[in-house]
Amino acid sequence: MAYKVAIVGATGNVGREMLDILAERRFPVSEVVPLASSRSIGQEVSFGEKTLKCRHLDTYDFSDTDICLMSAGGTVSKDWSPRIGAQGCVVIDNSSAWRMDPDVPLIVPEVNADATAGFRKKNIIANPNCSTAQLVVALKPLHDAATIRRVVVSTYQSVSGAGKDAMDELFAQTRSVFVSDPVEAKKFPKRIAFNLIPQIDVFMEDGFTKEEWKMVAETKKILDPKIKLVATCVRVPVFISHSEAVNIEFEKPISADEARDILREAPGVLVIDKREPGGYITPHEAAGEDATYISRIREDPTVDNGLVLWCVSDNLRKGAALNAVQIAEVLMNRKLLTPKARAA
Ligand SMILES: NC(=O)c1ccc[n+]([C@@H]2O[C@H](COP(=O)([O-])OP(=O)(O)OC[C@H]3O[C@@H](n4cnc5c(N)ncnc54)[C@H](OP(=O)(O)O)[C@@H]3O)[C@@H](O)[C@H]2O)c1
Repeated sequence: MAYKVAIVGATGNVGREMLDILAERRFPVSEVVPLASSRSIGQEVSFGEKTLKCRHLDTYDFSDTDICLMSAGGTVSKDWSPRIGAQGCVVIDNSSAWRMDPDVPLIVPEVNADATAGFRKKNIIANPNCSTAQLVVALKPLHDAATIRRVVVSTYQSVSGAGKDAMDELFAQTRSVFVSDPVEAKKFPKRIAFNLIPQIDVFMEDGFTKEEWKMVAETKKILDPKIKLVATCVRVPVFISHSEAVNIEFEKPISADEARDILREAPGVLVIDKREPGGYITPHEAAGEDATYISRIREDPTVDNGLVLWCVSDNLRKGAALNAVQIAEVLMNRKLLTPKARAA
């Protein structure tokens, strides 16, 4: 049993990671088709040992493709995902376009794989925002044990979360600072090199940013609508991996030792928590890894039943590409999707 998989946005940060992860995890493919815009026709991308040439999304026929991993932004997804879904190809989308649609499951396999079952309504499954994905992986086992009432989270998000142009901007600005050239900010609203920016995505009427709102709405949809959450999202001059300082209030008592033991057993989580210099994870070490890392677990003495922890994960992997491939694996392992019959 092998699936024909198309990757829309194959030249991007997330698309390239999807190609790597499909190959690494030996996802059974009959063919992988990299797609991008007219800018990238013929551009080569790697898939395992192979080199594939990108094709143009606009002229590709999805009728014999089984799975489309979509990673080309919200505008492209809004336009294309319903049309691709209507051709019987399941779209696993990385943008924010479909996440809050009641007919589209929003999935983190370690947390709510069962919700995948409703995907046939639109043939679209949404991947959450990168900062939400790693957070719910950490929260789920703790919620099961002691019922989360409220979460206060501050994020430290890498520039790769804003695409490849944003990574280039951090690189170029850093170079400009060193050689005393003028520093140009195009992708970010202020200089990011040797700085940080307390704004990710646009402002909403209530003063929160859209990124902060996404963390609230998506956590409720994936994990539990009763959880209260407030976020402050900050862009930092790190290339890969998002970090989060997370303060959690529970209904029932839970000690730091109990939380550490629970998280050590949790799927997708690795605990690195030695109370000594360097006994914790940093974004540099999490880059290229699949796990959601948890460190600095401690009791919050200012509230009843409170914990504080530090959570780091590679935003291009668990925050996007890995999660998407894991969703495809759920479809395959639960026999929710069989490959289409194709002419030999
Ligand atoms: N980066 C993250 O951590 C992260 C996490 C979760 C979700 N996401 C989401 O994933 C998506 C992609 O992010 P990214 O970081 O990979 O961005 P990126 O590095 O900027 O790449 C964008 C990709 O989309 C393609 N594209 C753009 N316009 C297109 C069009 N009209 N038709 C076909 N292809 C088009 C680009 O192709 P060309 O090379 O031809 O321009 C490129 O392959 C976004 O929706 C983002 O919000 C990202």
